[in-house]
Amino acid sequence: MNETRTTIDEIGDAIYRISTPIPAVAGGFTFNQYLVVDDEPLLFHTGLRQLFPAVRDAIARVMPVERLRWVAFSHVEQDECGALNELLAAAPRAEAACSRIGAMVSVGDLAIRPPRALADGERLRLGRREVVWYDAPHVPHGWDCGFLSETTTQTLFCGDLFTQPGAAHPPLTEADVLGPSEAMRGALDYYAHAPATRATLEKLASSGPRTLACMHGAAWRGDGSKLLLALADALQA
Ligand SMILES: [Fe+2]
Ligand SMILES: [Fe+2]
Repeated sequence: MNETRTTIDEIGDAIYRISTPIPAVAGGFTFNQYLVVDDEPLLFHTGLRQLFPAVRDAIARVMPVERLRWVAFSHVEQDECGALNELLAAAPRAEAACSRIGAMVSVGDLAIRPPRALADGERLRLGRREVVWYDAPHVPHGWDCGFLSETTTQTLFCGDLFTQPGAAHPPLTEADVLGPSEAMRGALDYYAHAPATRATLEKLASSGPRTLACMHGAAWRGDGSKLLLALADALQA
């Protein structure tokens, strides 16, 4: 993969961004996972199967990997869940968590243990924290797509939304991420442009996120509702 160093940084109270830059991709690219440390620790996204040793070692800098309780992800693609079974093997108490469509169509078959299927609006208590699942079919892509929000810090784990190119990013930024992500979408449009896209983005905006935990690029801090609505406008422009 020609990955360089995998980093792990705390971007919110006990919320860590794990990031692996891949300079070999033209222009550079990053794959991020997010770890919420609590009584029942949750990892959002696994990274590519080839990145498993790097992601496992990054988690181990913060907590024993076998403590993982939930391995959640937005939709079935290799960067979102390619190392799912490696993580389930490394953490015997861990369960996959994904959308009901994801569990029915793919994860119930591909995972080594049955997944926990989350309905739209369903909450999962991790200890002192709680996360909420939001279905987001086809936003940006995947019938099974959805996102998690951590309610204490109002962090939306927003997956492929606001994907930024490049391999060098700060863990957390307040600089513009919509411009770079729209520039990338201009060259490589990864959106399904489904009829309900705006309604889905409005639903996510109504959760009032203060941090958008992007899967590719920097995590972003600011008025997340406003930025999600700006994204909805940009997609219709
Ligand atoms: Fe994706
Ligand atoms: Fe992705």
